[in-house]
Amino acid sequence: MSIASAPSHTATATPGAAYRPVWQRSQEDPEGFWLDVATQVQWKTEPTRALDERGEYEWRWFPGGELNVSENALDRHVDAGRGDNAALIYDSAMTGTKLTFTYRELRDAVALFAGVLRDQGVSKGDRVLIYLPMVPQAVIAMLACARIGAIHSVVFGGFAANELAVRIADAKPKVIVTTAGGLEPGRVVEYLPLVSRAIELVGDDCSVESVIVRQRDAVPGTAAEYNEGSSASWHDWEELEAKSSPAAPVSMRAEDPLYILYTSGTTGSPKGVVRDSGGYTVGLQWAMQNIYNFGPGDTMFTASDVGWVVGHSFIVYGPLIAGGTTILYEGKPVGTPDPGAFWRVLSEHGAKLLSTAPTALRAIRREDPELEYLKRYDMSKLEAIYLAGERMDPETWHWVNDGLRVPVVDHWWQTETGWMICANPLGIEELPAKAGSTTVPMPGFDVHILDSNGKRITEPNVEGNIGIRLPLAPGALLEIWGSRQRFIDSYLSAFKGYYSTGDAGYYDEDGYLFVMGRTDDVINVAGHRLSTGSLEEVLTQHSAVAECAVIGVSDELKGQRAAGFVTVKHGVSIDDQQLATELIALVREHIGPVASFRDVTVVERLPKTRSGKILRKTIRQIVDGEPYTVPATIEDPTVIDELITSLKHTVSAPPTRVVTLP
Ligand code: COA
Ligand code: AMP
Repeated sequence: MSIASAPSHTATATPGAAYRPVWQRSQEDPEGFWLDVATQVQWKTEPTRALDERGEYEWRWFPGGELNVSENALDRHVDAGRGDNAALIYDSAMTGTKLTFTYRELRDAVALFAGVLRDQGVSKGDRVLIYLPMVPQAVIAMLACARIGAIHSVVFGGFAANELAVRIADAKPKVIVTTAGGLEPGRVVEYLPLVSRAIELVGDDCSVESVIVRQRDAVPGTAAEYNEGSSASWHDWEELEAKSSPAAPVSMRAEDPLYILYTSGTTGSPKGVVRDSGGYTVGLQWAMQNIYNFGPGDTMFTASDVGWVVGHSFIVYGPLIAGGTTILYEGKPVGTPDPGAFWRVLSEHGAKLLSTAPTALRAIRREDPELEYLKRYDMSKLEAIYLAGERMDPETWHWVNDGLRVPVVDHWWQTETGWMICANPLGIEELPAKAGSTTVPMPGFDVHILDSNGKRITEPNVEGNIGIRLPLAPGALLEIWGSRQRFIDSYLSAFKGYYSTGDAGYYDEDGYLFVMGRTDDVINVAGHRLSTGSLEEVLTQHSAVAECAVIGVSDELKGQRAAGFVTVKHGVSIDDQQLATELIALVREHIGPVASFRDVTVVERLPKTRSGKILRKTIRQIVDGEPYTVPATIEDPTVIDELITSLKHTVSAPPTRVVTLP
């Protein structure tokens, strides 16, 4: 049931009056609806159809249409007379740098770097891996790829060399674009040793022919230092630019991939979400206008990272396709230098929207509960705050709602969907907000609650699996890179006719959707999506570990954090503290600091069912201090008491040293 199709149960008849017919039309007349939105995009060849359903598991948007996404994000606005408008504002709290690129300047920088890529032999369909922190070159490199039809794959800076290697091996990029490093509070993250190591790890059949390095004043390391002995040739970004010339935007079929973005699956091997060009441009065009109420002349601050889907859609592509100004902020919500950092950025650059993850607000609240820092800034331009990436706890929602006195919109989406499955569409009408709810489904997304057999649950307030009826809206993933079967197995085969979101939730009696948590072993740590399965794979690599379980436990700041439970092999003698420290370091080395893995409990035995299934839910409930249920099928109930005793000896250690595999 949704507010769009169900009879309204709201107290007044008005809420949804403007939104409801819009959603309804997207379901009843998807052709007409999406072709209308498509007229707002610049095509090289106009599409005559919106949807091409090719089979049970295959559909494509705007068949026959051709466009260039980079041209839509840049040239189109210059040609429309907006060349002198600010496109990108770079604000680094880490270095104090502030830079503004107009649309003309950004287009020229992108065209020139596209020329550099072309000179390196990159052409349509080739992959380019981008490993850059929050610097303008990240945006330039992404749009440059799009300009010449190369498929980019951006990797978040908080991942270790191993994770980078896995992505290189899967996407097989011809070129890597990187920089000397990133800046985290109190430390420099040197990227070049990580890139070099990742290429080595991939081994003899590594696809990477060249590495392009942008130097940074604040970080040591140059291309020349890594050239010798590497299977790839390393180049300096600026030297290549000096020898290059701008490249023109090429024509891409609407269904051609724009990028691959890796996200955590249920195993250690991440899934490469493939995004198309036409559907994504049209989906974002709709979202920017109707959800964010954003267009030329507006400024948006999305506090995330270009390595995540939020960064792709709402730091880079969305705001630029819509012709507004986007802020690229290098820094944290707190400590760079204080909890007023976001308010400073918003007021200094006159942003009307802030989009961030709830964890960032919790971090600010922890340091400045009375919002004293807010009082230092003129926030009169701010019109709304949008939150995504994890469940928004009602307490923080109320805190920010009361403190900022602008609409606070909790919207729900995934790397896979590319834009919002559910939101409060402020560009159409502001529906009454409810703390804890992500409001209502957006056009193209027909969202249902399903029981374990895939049958629709129509009663309100009954939790189940959240499924989206196929096909998905334009812009959502079309496949997993390199494996059609994995796409089907991961998302489409659980519930016939539906995309399975992996989230659980319910509709209330007003048709508002509440997203309550994952149904798989994906966890969300500070808005970063991680797979407990991949953490377990790392822990079992330690020679002393017999068995392990990693679960997501509640964390006041980060929403969730990963906690590991391990048993030691018979005959192995190792101090618990030492083992824990080594495991924490191992995860940091193999997955990266982003895993934020700190807690290890060494146990005698893990609680299991008689068939050998580890009772993860019971462990989580015990750790979280919730009433717990012990299934009747438990192998040995005394294990629970052992576990509770072991919890007194959990090691919660900061990662201080890196160990190599024993
Ligand atoms: N490159 C390298 N390392 C990174 C990194 C990056 N881009 N981003 C984070 N890290 C490191 C951090 O330095 C930290 O390292 P440490 O263990 O040495 O301290 C580790 O990864 C964990 O980072 P994080 O989970 O972000 O914790 P934090 O304590 O540094 O910061 C918050 C906490 C809440 C301030 C921070 O997580 C935040 O701003 N969250 C917003 C969430 C967000 O933007 N999510 C995007 C998806 S919507
Ligand atoms: P990611 O692919 O990294 O964007 O993570 C997507 C996952 O984050 C979703 O499947 C949800 O589990 C969670 N998530 C994102 N936004 C929300 C939200 N507004 N409320 C609850 N969970 C969310």
